[in-house]
Amino acid sequence: MKDDGKTRLSLCRLRCSVRIGTPPGALSRMPGKGAHPRRGRKAPEELLQRFLFGVCGMRELTKNPESFCTLGIETSCDETGLCLLRGARTVFAEVLASQIEEHAPYGGVIPEMASRRHQEMFLPLLRELFLRGGIQDPSREIDLIAVTQGPGLMGALLVGVMSAKGLAQGWDLPLLGINHLEGHIFANVLHSPFLEPPFLNLVVSGGHTEIVLVRDYGIYELLGRTRDDAAGEAYDKVAKMLDLGYPGGPKVDALAAQGDPGAFDLPVPLGNSPEMDFSFSGLKTAVLWKIEALKKEGPSPFPLEDLCASFQRAVVASLTGKVRLAMKHTGLSRVAVSGGVAANRGLRQGLLEIPGGEIFLPPPALCTDNAAMIAAAGYNGYMRGRRGDLALSPNPGMVLA
Ligand code: KG4
Ligand code: ZN
Repeated sequence: MKDDGKTRLSLCRLRCSVRIGTPPGALSRMPGKGAHPRRGRKAPEELLQRFLFGVCGMRELTKNPESFCTLGIETSCDETGLCLLRGARTVFAEVLASQIEEHAPYGGVIPEMASRRHQEMFLPLLRELFLRGGIQDPSREIDLIAVTQGPGLMGALLVGVMSAKGLAQGWDLPLLGINHLEGHIFANVLHSPFLEPPFLNLVVSGGHTEIVLVRDYGIYELLGRTRDDAAGEAYDKVAKMLDLGYPGGPKVDALAAQGDPGAFDLPVPLGNSPEMDFSFSGLKTAVLWKIEALKKEGPSPFPLEDLCASFQRAVVASLTGKVRLAMKHTGLSRVAVSGGVAANRGLRQGLLEIPGGEIFLPPPALCTDNAAMIAAAGYNGYMRGRRGDLALSPNPGMVLA
């Protein structure tokens, strides 16, 4: 089979229509290559110095922050996301290629495959992004590149970070590495103009379950975290036990809506603990035992919806219980939620029912991985005075607080 761009693209589920196959010579015609029209051609020694010492984009901030344009790049797991953000909140072009369908047969993300797909998708998506955003001369029209530095899969992060470094070097643009979790927090900032620090942020994704106190932008305190599995991971593993496919979260969520949450008495993890930590592996094991018992002597048909609803009740009770504790501990009522599990209907409902809570929920598209949240965190960091350089390297175990 001919391995052209079209074939490769069809393997990925795209949330945008992308014309693959960069026409021959298109990249070499990309504006910004060669002499910089605004600042003139650089002396070879200056270019060498910049290369050796990793200086990039040392331009002064003369632009009105409202028209400042940030290119956001996200490749930490199985979504290749690119976005153009104007000012703090206006996303004026965005493309995202999800690899979920490719990883689904394996029941989880295959890291090597994820890196290859990011690498194949990056330039075609960048080209589409610029078409959508009307960008003709990136070195003049873009002011900052913000890329996910970690945490995530090493090979996947490498593709985003090295591409961003190449673009920053080539277009002489400032570059910032962004913590993926800070990005998730900024999904709320992007969506809710009225959300101001201090606030609590519950980050619930496939890799993380954390309650973060956002004292100010850039100043984060970790109040609680999972001791074992992340909430999304527990959803995915329970879905696997029930043969529901990957990713399991949305499927369990949909089935739970049709079941009885009180049908099975599953334990609420660390329900009586005064700590703000989470734990989901015991609950996952309890579900496994329940499945085995039901298969042996249980009712027919198998009570799939009831089991999903009971599991979801325990997860939501655990998450909302710890949010209540954090509210009490800090005296804060503003709570934002982010990460893939923030799309869960049961969790959204449970949070909205917390007495005295002022709850901020991003729309589902901003809950899962995307580049807009990375761009928003980058813009905010840059305006606060953060600066980076070409020494940037991926950090798969990067911590937030
Ligand atoms: O934030 P995300 O896109 O990627 C990570 O950084 O992990 O989150 C993906 C996770 C997966 O575990 C997926 O099953 C879960 O979020 N998820 C959900 C829902 N939608 C996605 N979990 C529960 N209910 C949902 N509706
Ligand atoms: Zn994420």
